[in-house]
Amino acid sequence: MLDNQRVVILNFGGQYCQLIARRVREAGVYCEVLPCTTPASSLRSSPPIGLILSGSPSSVLAPSAPSADPALLTLGVPTLGICYGMQWMSHHLGGSIEPGALREYGRVSIQLNKNLCALTESIPATTSCWMSHTDLVTHTPPGFSVLASSDNCPIAAISNPSLNLFGVQFHPEVTHTDHGRTLLHNFLYNICGASNSWSMEAFIQRTIPELRTLIGSSRVLLGLSGGVDSAVTAAILSRAIGRQLTCVYVDHGFMREGETSEVLAAFTHNFDLHLIQTDASDLFFSRLKNVTDPELKRKIIGAAFVEVFASEASKLSSLHNIEFLAQGTTYPDVIESGHAAGAAVIKSHHNVGGLPSNIGFNGLIEPLRMLFKDEVRSVGEKLGLPESIVWRQPFPGPGLAIRCLGEVTRDKISIVRSSDAILRDEISKAGLARSIQQYLTVLTGVRSVGVMGDERTYENAIAIRAVTTDDFMTSDWARIPYDVLARVSSRIVNESPHVNRVVYDITTKPPASIEWE
Ligand code: XMP
Repeated sequence: MLDNQRVVILNFGGQYCQLIARRVREAGVYCEVLPCTTPASSLRSSPPIGLILSGSPSSVLAPSAPSADPALLTLGVPTLGICYGMQWMSHHLGGSIEPGALREYGRVSIQLNKNLCALTESIPATTSCWMSHTDLVTHTPPGFSVLASSDNCPIAAISNPSLNLFGVQFHPEVTHTDHGRTLLHNFLYNICGASNSWSMEAFIQRTIPELRTLIGSSRVLLGLSGGVDSAVTAAILSRAIGRQLTCVYVDHGFMREGETSEVLAAFTHNFDLHLIQTDASDLFFSRLKNVTDPELKRKIIGAAFVEVFASEASKLSSLHNIEFLAQGTTYPDVIESGHAAGAAVIKSHHNVGGLPSNIGFNGLIEPLRMLFKDEVRSVGEKLGLPESIVWRQPFPGPGLAIRCLGEVTRDKISIVRSSDAILRDEISKAGLARSIQQYLTVLTGVRSVGVMGDERTYENAIAIRAVTTDDFMTSDWARIPYDVLARVSSRIVNESPHVNRVVYDITTKPPASIEWE
């Protein structure tokens, strides 16, 4: 556990479960997401200060509905059920649930019964909230009162203060619920007695000595990719163990312009660690010759990466005994892999990322495995990483190679690289870098006729892709002002070789993905 106070969120499979966890952390309270099947007995020895039951796409009435251990409701731990969580709680405590006539989806006005509860303190009597449900609680369990109602949902929030059990049919974690943050804050501070102890300073202060104790005088190897997660992992390990950390930076030849030098400069100037850079681009380009299938490209790049990294690791391990491999795993990966329990930064492993077992690491170190992306960024800033690295937009492991449709060659990569650099430059000059979550260019593989001077040309089309998104699972296309697009287009056709056409991708995800590939 990373803090003395912990809230547990039981995951019934709802799409907003991670968002609930982020909101709780933003409120200054440490939380963990555990599977809904977590037995009550496993929480008894070190009970959380609060329990939140998440939403779910299922119906409590369905035979295969996800369920939790009903003994959780008798632990005496303050509990808030959200959507399905409230229905599950009501169902188990003797209330009734029925299918609603219509699915209620979207922003809805609710009326609060103001006399009742610390949960709704400072929230106006009429407020807007986000609903997404079909089933309804039609009778509260014995001992519960109705805290809120809407036109279509007479029981929109319930409470039983003497048992410390609460439920809301709506989603306080989404921004469309006007006072959702206040409601969660009320639950955490008025009801669970949270003390605002979770902060990234506290995380760093706790983690560095923990890493020192775990690692002792052993050596640790880390693959530095240039992405935020591996950079922050390197930064915290460097602060903990200095030159006992060796980072290997594999340049596959598909990095963005200036990226390699920027990453290397950040680490050589500000951090004490042992850094090895290897230019393996010849190997990657030769392996990709004549390969056009996107999935095959990814597989070849992944395998070549492991090969190069393993060869560097075995060169090093013939010189030193390297005990641990570090990785920049973050909490969404941990939750999605279903291994959500426990906050340990270290675990034993047998075969990480396809590395050959004869390299012989004894353990895997994942110092960020309990952090969300925004927390990772904040740790990076506090450890002194430059803004250009901390606020780097997501970049696929196979790099520009997947943004080059068809066969990947050095010439084609240099077209994508130069157009990408122009786009990034203009977005940054226009002050849009933080408001567009990802922006990139694609060499579409389409060639078309154009004119340049008096000459007919037959050259490449570059596509610009720019999206706004909260979670990269869904996205909208960014409304970049026309004059910014005009500058980008004019610079790309003038400055990038062999391009005579620029198009703007105006597709949402779904149905399109963010990358083209
Ligand atoms: P798609 O194209 O699936 O991408 O909409 C969603 C997000 O994932 C990023 N992405 C990757 N990130 N390794 C990564 O770390 C990868 O191989 C990879 N492929 C896609 C993509 O850039 C977008 O942010």
